[in-house]
Amino acid sequence: MNTRFRLVFTVLILAFNPLHFSNLYAQNARIKIDLDRTIGEVDPHIYGNFVEHLGRCVYGGIYDPDNKLSDKNGFRKDVMTAVQNLHPTIIRYPGGNFVSNYNWLDGVGPKSERVPRLELAWYTLEPNLFGTNEFMQYVRSVNAEPYFTVNMGTGTIEEARRWVEYCNVKDGPYYAELRKKHGFPEPWNITYWSLGNEMDGPWQMGHLSAEDYVKKAREAAKLMVRTSPGIKLVAAGSSNYRAGADPDHWNQTVLTELKDVIDYIAIHMYVGNPDSNYYNFIATPLVLEQRTKIIKGMIAQAMQTASRGDRDPIYIAWDEYNVWYRARRGASATGRNALEEKYNLEDALVIAEFLNAFIRNADVVKMANLAQLVNVIAPIFTNENGMFKQTIYYPLQLFANHVSGTSLDVFVDCKNYSTERFNLGLGETTAQLSKVPYLDVSATYKAGEVTLCVVNRNKEEAITTDILSQNGAFSGTFEVFEVNGPDIKSGNDFNKEVVKTVEKPAINASGNKIMYSFPPHSFTMLKGKLTK
Ligand code: AHR
Repeated sequence: MNTRFRLVFTVLILAFNPLHFSNLYAQNARIKIDLDRTIGEVDPHIYGNFVEHLGRCVYGGIYDPDNKLSDKNGFRKDVMTAVQNLHPTIIRYPGGNFVSNYNWLDGVGPKSERVPRLELAWYTLEPNLFGTNEFMQYVRSVNAEPYFTVNMGTGTIEEARRWVEYCNVKDGPYYAELRKKHGFPEPWNITYWSLGNEMDGPWQMGHLSAEDYVKKAREAAKLMVRTSPGIKLVAAGSSNYRAGADPDHWNQTVLTELKDVIDYIAIHMYVGNPDSNYYNFIATPLVLEQRTKIIKGMIAQAMQTASRGDRDPIYIAWDEYNVWYRARRGASATGRNALEEKYNLEDALVIAEFLNAFIRNADVVKMANLAQLVNVIAPIFTNENGMFKQTIYYPLQLFANHVSGTSLDVFVDCKNYSTERFNLGLGETTAQLSKVPYLDVSATYKAGEVTLCVVNRNKEEAITTDILSQNGAFSGTFEVFEVNGPDIKSGNDFNKEVVKTVEKPAINASGNKIMYSFPPHSFTMLKGKLTK
């Protein structure tokens, strides 16, 4: 073949072979799965959620006694079904900033005797018509574990102890008997208790220095555990990564001083896209991962000198995380309609990446709570006539329903990019990230099935990927679920659902390789058999 003829021949091949032609423009990648390279067991509590007395999360969200859509307890039935389908495993309550000026006694007993109180975290009047027992009825109806936070701000260690007694002691002392008098003969047996919320934040009522916090938390823990041995305690780690704050000092102090007492350290993170830069924003969960690794190191150091008997080491609870930047300032951040953030596709991809990060750090991240459940920076949004599922509902639902077992240390080879220094979100610090892979991947293995969760960060290009098993064979059909939408700014609304989970045609798999093309700006879950 002479050169001229070869050139014409090549052009013809390219023109008439669309697959080959598109591959010239698409990116390629490799994902390697090795069943021997394990990270840890995925704790189901990473699919947690959060209900705070804030805006319309409780009143007008989960609880709306005058609404025709509610049941006899005043719980919105449509919301409850959506919550049940989301499968939150553990729900944190009652705050958040709210708890730091909350007296739990105001929310128990006959409703006619409950007194409304001025609520200073979000500048409202708290009617106290929903409290401990209403929450416990709700959490049981949606089959989730309760997780309570005590008031370490304006509250005393004795108030915290009394709440534990009210909830967990069967009979005898005053507060256990009070619960019975209120119509609940059996204790609620709440295992998970957090020692305050964001106590390092100057915005927190009763904000403390690290040194003062650990003193108060240690004494509260002593009283609470003596009242109900076996409870698990979560210390407030840092949520203040703003310029000038010292989150490392806070976390280090908490871990050093409470290392024999606590079971988890709680960290919070909210990200946003205030500068409207997709590629910066879509990389923000990697900052959560960096923080996880830093705290993991601090835990390892603290564990060297801890006296914990046969208890597990301290784990990380990301007990507030989400996208939150639109409704974060001024009128949108206070009052009845506070924090009503409307989500789009890029936000949903960020949530999928947060979940991937928890899976990739499954050895140390043993709890995570998306903040929050309904209306307030939430996956479910209501009005008096109905509800809709926000974009972020779908990745969370897919993970909670499909991803469990052992987290695998996957190898990913794909193109990457770097960001300039950028704002992580309102109130947050800045970050600069290099080598951000276009594919964000996690893999888990359970009962002969592998589940691969992949975000394609690339906004324009599909990424054609060889998924290679190092020591096992794929077989049967692989289910494929995709969360995507017409563009990254697409969102849902009442009677409009453009971003949601779509089940794609299953893939026939055999041998040690699957080829899949991950579409631009998508989250894909592949699930099927892999046997050694
Ligand atoms: O989830 C909204 C608020 O964010 C919480 O009340 C607080 O803990 C955090 O700052």
